[in-house]
Amino acid sequence: MLPKINLTKDIFWVGVNDRRTERFENYWPLPFGVAYNSYVVVDEKIALIDTVEAGFIDSFLDNIKAIIGDRHPDYLIVNHAEPDHSGSIRAILREYPDITVVGNAKTFPMIEGFYDINEKKIVAEEGGTLSLGQHTLQFFTVPMVHWPESMVTYETSEKILFSNDSFGSFGTLDGGIFDDEVNIDFFETEMRRYYSNIVGKYGMQVQKALAKLGGLNIQQIAPSHGPIWRSNIGYVIDKYDKWSKCETEDGVIIVYGSLYGNTARMADIIARSIAEEGIKNIRVFDASKTHSSYIISELWRYRGVIFGSSAYNGGIFTPMRALIRELEHIMPKNHLFGIFGGMSWSGGGVRTLEEFSNNIKWQLVAPSVEVKHAAKEEDIERLRALGKSMAQALKNN
Ligand code: FEO
Repeated sequence: MLPKINLTKDIFWVGVNDRRTERFENYWPLPFGVAYNSYVVVDEKIALIDTVEAGFIDSFLDNIKAIIGDRHPDYLIVNHAEPDHSGSIRAILREYPDITVVGNAKTFPMIEGFYDINEKKIVAEEGGTLSLGQHTLQFFTVPMVHWPESMVTYETSEKILFSNDSFGSFGTLDGGIFDDEVNIDFFETEMRRYYSNIVGKYGMQVQKALAKLGGLNIQQIAPSHGPIWRSNIGYVIDKYDKWSKCETEDGVIIVYGSLYGNTARMADIIARSIAEEGIKNIRVFDASKTHSSYIISELWRYRGVIFGSSAYNGGIFTPMRALIRELEHIMPKNHLFGIFGGMSWSGGGVRTLEEFSNNIKWQLVAPSVEVKHAAKEEDIERLRALGKSMAQALKNN
């Protein structure tokens, strides 16, 4: 059993690490796993803040009992009904049948729907408080960060924000639990992949949440995934502010779908022409190989985006079609855009990317470059011109 992990004298981390699930939400790869964080506030009354994914109930209960022994928690705070956090509610109610569940008006229909439970409950008002003795919890809804019922809990005496998905990241907590105990660069990358793919569609709602919580004095941010932030709070809030406004850095991602390598070679020609202009942040991805979550995370970082696709049955190659459909759903903003591809015997890849461009409304930096079969000398010049236009647009932007 782990030694106790204190946020403060009376507040403890009781979460678990998941290194066995292949894909978060059964879709997003988890090469470094994910942590489901949960917290206990021990006072005259005991509050458990969020639970963990259902398969980890034994470790979760061990962690809780290591802190509170034979005492029973009085309250279960449900900040979010998504099953990665609510999945153990039923087991907690079985273990602690007298516990009172605390959520907001939108929480209870969800957890009753998922788990067929309707136990003792408190419906928290916006800004409402719950006293545990020396500690007081205050509740704020943050709709669509990440679901309609999403809520955060603020502990007023220690000034800890239990932020649920907000400020969370993929990656297990491998010894280091707090931001000053881990490699921040690793978690920034996994936090951006989490943000862009899971929450990125709701940037406007994130901005509203930041405005709502902006007046709080926050000494620690304790999310439900990833490290607890106590030494770099300004840094992590700044990241969320920038990402939710789709603020990007100088750099380009080039993503291609290529059956036999002709479109892939075009991508390398374009990338080289951009590098010749002094742009150093250039990432090239094969959409058939790299999961879209990594591509979208890099797209959230860099302003320049160039997509290429070979034609496939009169349309766009399948992995690129999947990527653009996903982006049309998320609708990230503020990108410079370029298009290229191979027409083979039918065309269709470039045409589909042009339709995507009309929908997503990124700023095109140059006309599309469509190549019949493999790129010839004159095609190479057009591809290089596309790269140069992107580099120039980045410098001007
Ligand atoms: Fe970590 Fe929206 O669940």
